[in-house]
Amino acid sequence: MENSTKHNNSLRTVEWKNNKVVMIDQTKLPNELVFVEYDDFNQVADAISTLVVRGAPAIGVSGAFGLALAALQSKATIKDELLSDLEHARKILFATRPTAINLGWGLEKIMDVATYGNSVEQIKELVISKAKQMADEDIEINKTMGKMGSVLFDNNDTIMTHCNAGALATVAYGTALGVIRATRESGKNIKVIATETRPIQQGSRLTVFELKHDGFDVSLIPDTAVGYSMANGLVNKVVVGADRIVKTGHVFNKIGTYQVATMAKQHGIPFYVAAPLSTIDMETKAEDVIIEMRKGSEVTGIGEKKTAPDDINVINPAFDMTPPELISGIITEKGVATAPYEESLKKLFQANL
Ligand code: MRU
Repeated sequence: MENSTKHNNSLRTVEWKNNKVVMIDQTKLPNELVFVEYDDFNQVADAISTLVVRGAPAIGVSGAFGLALAALQSKATIKDELLSDLEHARKILFATRPTAINLGWGLEKIMDVATYGNSVEQIKELVISKAKQMADEDIEINKTMGKMGSVLFDNNDTIMTHCNAGALATVAYGTALGVIRATRESGKNIKVIATETRPIQQGSRLTVFELKHDGFDVSLIPDTAVGYSMANGLVNKVVVGADRIVKTGHVFNKIGTYQVATMAKQHGIPFYVAAPLSTIDMETKAEDVIIEMRKGSEVTGIGEKKTAPDDINVINPAFDMTPPELISGIITEKGVATAPYEESLKKLFQANL
């Protein structure tokens, strides 16, 4: 694998290079490692909706880079025109995926910084440097979060994870997989069980790919084997990522997370969520979070191969909600929150001031 894809041994998913956005095309993994280069924010919007780039923190940073491209593309000669071009691009980027809060968070950060510039040139510089800074900070936050979480895991643990909350879902290092990486870096010997994560197979295509690349002992299971693995003592702990966590501690994450958490509770297995503060939404109520519904063809086939008859009804929610009573702790870069989450999450934000 190319050195440019690595950040301390993990993959670099999205980057700003020579005034372009460079991304790993995750739809091609694990068969091909292909990098795509974009110089138009519309291409970035398309990449987010078609899952070329996915995972909450990665789409947050991609949205920010998308706005940086929009700033460069703009022909505006005065500040107000540039701000209105950026607002146009913000709307298009924001409309791509509704569940992960990081996208709106990344876009807002850039829109904020844009207002501080006086001239068109200054705004362009500010926007690009802020987006690059957000990408770099993402890696540092993940590393700190990893260390915070690593104390929860023991030598010889086998840790289950669902979907991909790894380097490929962030700029590098990962959230849930960042905790797993940091646990190994702390000298503990650990194994990982990754669920396949139908219908898009982020577990088999991405998690197993990046963990194998980094030399982890990882086993892949079909989603249907979660109960078997827990009932037969194959799993000690679970850690997953999140797309949005609301102040009550309800966690929105990849479809199937709720099943894994319920099964973990049934077997007395600790279930942890790892996510940066940028994934925590202290404003929105759980019932108001929009769960993205994706196209039926993701379920009626695997890749190009059809696995279901034509013309059937499909229900394909991309995310589900895990209630706080199933969660042993929420690992962030500011510490680990435990129930009651309304209090503990608020404290983490206060510690961030
Ligand atoms: O549809 P995806 O692949 O974007 O979903 C990704 C997840 O659900 C991840 O678990 C979540 O974004 C956390 S990534 C650090």
